[in-house]
Amino acid sequence: MKLLVKKLLVANWKMQLSHDQACSWIETELPSVQEVCATTPHELVICPSFTTLSYGTTLFPDSSWGAQTVGFEKQGAYTGDVSVLSLKELGVQYCLVGHSEQRRYRGVTDEQVAQKVALLRKQGIQPIVCIGETVAQKHETKKILQTQLEQIIGNESLIIAYEPVWSIGTGDVPSPEQLAQSVAIIKNLCGSQTRILYGGSVTDTKVALFGSYVEGFLIGSASLDADRLKKIILSC
Ligand code: PGA
Repeated sequence: MKLLVKKLLVANWKMQLSHDQACSWIETELPSVQEVCATTPHELVICPSFTTLSYGTTLFPDSSWGAQTVGFEKQGAYTGDVSVLSLKELGVQYCLVGHSEQRRYRGVTDEQVAQKVALLRKQGIQPIVCIGETVAQKHETKKILQTQLEQIIGNESLIIAYEPVWSIGTGDVPSPEQLAQSVAIIKNLCGSQTRILYGGSVTDTKVALFGSYVEGFLIGSASLDADRLKKIILSC
């Protein structure tokens, strides 16, 4: 029998579902997905849009919930941002920080990532810091990861999601050797107790292939399909 080690599985729903669609997924699909998860040692975190978070945390307070981002200041005149205090009040336990889409489309910087990490930790919310090289940076992965991590090194109990940008939504994934190299770079910089998730075109076959290198997965499009998500949970 396979010895199962607890994995953290984070479903990043991005902006794929409307509020009504997300509520309906949570109501109709989440119970059976959680039932499957309960047969394993794994933890599943759902990260819907801000608008749906309170619906989720209210209906299923015992499930784990995550936000997709957070404001870089605690409060103030930051139109459009959502504060760490709001996340805390909603009962959110996790928050993605510095996802490549936030870096690319919202100009989130490494400095802001560090600010967000500090704010979240102060409120007892676990940050999941996303890092990864673009296709043009493939030859300098080590340097890129180093730069993205520099300002958060020294934080205890970090969770880092290694997501090669070229792998997000493309179906391309690193080889197990490439993944092992990146994991070693991150653990060298942040400490061996750092938990590392892999993200980018995650499927059930990929989690079986990568499972021994990482402590969990950040799952985008496959997490929107309850059957695919169950398969992923069972393949970890
Ligand atoms: P993907 O997205 O699984 O659809 O590639 C991953 C992510 O961006 O977190």
